[in-house]
Amino acid sequence: MVIKDPQELFMRLLSEANNAEKQMTRALPKMARAAHNEKLVEAFQHHLEETQGQLERIEQAADSIPEIRIKRLKSHAMESLIQEGEELIDSTEKGPLRDAGLIAAAQKVEHFEIAAYGTLCELAGQLGHTKAKEILAETLKEEKSTDDKLNKLAKQDVNKRAG
Ligand SMILES: [Fe+2]
Ligand SMILES: [Fe+2]
Repeated sequence: MVIKDPQELFMRLLSEANNAEKQMTRALPKMARAAHNEKLVEAFQHHLEETQGQLERIEQAADSIPEIRIKRLKSHAMESLIQEGEELIDSTEKGPLRDAGLIAAAQKVEHFEIAAYGTLCELAGQLGHTKAKEILAETLKEEKSTDDKLNKLAKQDVNKRAG
């Protein structure tokens, strides 16, 4: 796919985000099963529900722009982040130490998503797609609050017990 203008770049990045979120709907249940701390299990389960909503938002954002269609393509970045998380799970036993590693892996994902949705919102604004920008800004907010929640969990609970 040759990208010729900002609209096509937006479509490409939105399609990547779509695939990244789909991968996370498969990864988050595994992360929840691997986690030990109850609050962390809940955080992953809650974010799975949010992620399903985020996938719907991507469709809504695409539907709000007639010239745009989501394409099938793979987010290699998300695939690698998830693989690192799986390797972490494989190399630890269930408990506080693995939880600390899971939080680190999950925060890498959230930071990646914050960067991705930040760009998408900015591009949507520049292209005059106000509705899409509003929709994607909701998701950006969720990713940021998930990152905050993980940060607090790491500081309050998990890292202390891992140490
Ligand atoms: Fe997400
Ligand atoms: Fe997320």
